[in-house]
Amino acid sequence: MPEHKPVLFTIFGATGDLAYRKLYPSLYRLYHKGDLQENFAVIGTARREWSDAHYREIVQEAIASLEPDAVEAKNFASHFYYQAHDVQDTSHYDSIKQLTDELDEKYQLAGNRLYYLAMSPNHFGTIVTNLKKSGMKDSQGFHRVIIEKPFGSDFQSASQLNNEIGEVFAENEIYRIDHYLGKEMIQNISAIRFANNIFESLWNNRYIDNVQINLAESLGVEDRGGYYDKSGALKDMVQNHILQILSLLVMEPPAAFSNTEIRAEKIKALNAVRIYTPEEVQKNFVRGQYAAGKFDGKTFAAYREEPNVAADSKTETFVAGKFTVDNFRWSGVPFYIRTGKRLTEKGTRINIVFKQVPLNLFKAEINADCKERQLPPNILTIYIQPTEGFNLTLNGKEIGQGFDTHPVKLDYRNSAETVENSPEAYERLILDALRGDATNFTHWDEVAQSWRIVDAIRQAWDQTEPDFPNYEAGTMGPKAAYDLVAKDGFQWIWEPDEWYRERDLL
Ligand code: BG6
Repeated sequence: MPEHKPVLFTIFGATGDLAYRKLYPSLYRLYHKGDLQENFAVIGTARREWSDAHYREIVQEAIASLEPDAVEAKNFASHFYYQAHDVQDTSHYDSIKQLTDELDEKYQLAGNRLYYLAMSPNHFGTIVTNLKKSGMKDSQGFHRVIIEKPFGSDFQSASQLNNEIGEVFAENEIYRIDHYLGKEMIQNISAIRFANNIFESLWNNRYIDNVQINLAESLGVEDRGGYYDKSGALKDMVQNHILQILSLLVMEPPAAFSNTEIRAEKIKALNAVRIYTPEEVQKNFVRGQYAAGKFDGKTFAAYREEPNVAADSKTETFVAGKFTVDNFRWSGVPFYIRTGKRLTEKGTRINIVFKQVPLNLFKAEINADCKERQLPPNILTIYIQPTEGFNLTLNGKEIGQGFDTHPVKLDYRNSAETVENSPEAYERLILDALRGDATNFTHWDEVAQSWRIVDAIRQAWDQTEPDFPNYEAGTMGPKAAYDLVAKDGFQWIWEPDEWYRERDLL
C-alpha cells in the first residue's frame, strides 16, 4: 500500500492553465493510486467568482482524459473547495484561514499544509506574508510551499523574492519546482552514472571529448507570447532546465543518495561553471529568433507575428552555447547546449561524446582531403523525451572480408506502454513534496548561481543589437549554432534537420 499523509492543498492560481493541465490530473492520479486518500482537501483560489460546484465540474473536466470511473471522479472532486481571492485584500486571507480550519476538522488533516503558488511571481511575496499574518502557518503539522517558475527574472529579483519567502518559510519548507527534475530520464542520469562502473570511471576530461545537451521544441510560443516576449529562451529554458541537467551531469558522486548530499554536490557543480566575461559570451553563445517557415507541408508564422509579441521584438527564441566547467574533472571539456522554439522536431537528448582511442589501427582509408579516416566516436545518448532510454554507439567490424569498422548501436528504450503508465513529472514532484523529499526541487543556492551565470550572458547580449530573425521555422537554428561547434572541431550529434537540408527543403 502506498503510504499517505493527510494534507490540505491551497492552490493560488486555481483557475489557471497549469492547475488545469497539470495539477488536477496529477492530484487525481495520486488519489487513484492511494497516495492521497480520503483525508485530503484542496482549496482553490483565484480572482474569479466560482462556486464549489462549478470548481468541481472544472476539476472533473480536467481529469476526463484520464478516463476515471464516474463515481471515483465525483468523490475526488468533492474534496475541492473554491474561494475567490484578491491577493492584495487581507480580509480574504481570513476567509481562507476559516475554511482551512473547517476542512482540517472535517477531513482530519493533522494541520498539514501544502501551499501551491501557481501564479505570477510578483504576487508571491504578498501571498506568503499574508499567510503568516492570518495565522495560517500556526497549525501543528508541516507547512510547505511549492513555487512555480520563473523564480525571479534575474539574480537581484530572485534574491528579493527569496528574502520575502524566507521571512515566512524556512529553506527546507520551500519547494522550487523545475519540472524537468520530475522527468523519468532526468532522474535516470544519476542511475546511469552511479550504478554503472563503466561510465563513472570514464566520466571525466581524460575520456570525454564534449557533452551536448539539446532541448528542442517544435512548437512556437502558442498563447504565451505575453510572458515569453519578456523572458526569452535564455531565461525560459537555460537558467533552469538546462543548468539543472548540466549540474546532474557534472556533479561529483554524492556521499549518499539523499536530498542534502545531492543538492550540496549540485551547488558545487554550478559554482564551477564559468561566469563569462562579455567577450567570452560573444564567442561562446549564439541567439536566434525564428522567421516564418514552411515545414512538413505547413506554413508557420514568424515569432514577431505571434500574438502578444512586439512587431520589432528582440527576444531570442533560440540559444546555443558552450559552457565551461572549471574544475579538475571537467577542465577542457566543452558542454554545448542548444534549445529553441519552432525547431525541426521536439526532442530532449544528451550526447556524451567520448575521446578517440589513443591510436587508430583501422585508419587505412584515406579520404578526398588526404586525411586518414577517423573512427566515429563512442557516444552515450540519453533520450529524455519523447522516447525514453539510452544508446551506446560503439565501433564494430563490418561483416565480411577486410577490416572495415562501422558504428554499432546498443539501444535501450522504455516501451511506449511503460512511458504511458509511468508517473508524470508533476505527479512525482507533488508526491515528493508531500513526503518532504526536496531532492528534485532546486535549492536557493542553485537558483542563485544559475542566475549569476545567465545574467552575465543576458547583460553581454544587451550591449549589442541582434540580427533577428535569423532562422527559419522548422530548422535547427541559425548557422552560427553550427559554426559554434565546428570551430572547435566538433559537430552536433543530433541533426534532425539533416534530411531536409540534404533535399534543399529548408
Ligand atoms: C517550460 C517553458 O518551463 O518548459 C516552456 O516555460 C517550455 O516554454 C516547457 O515549452 C518545455 O517543457 P517540456 O516538458 O514540454 O519539455
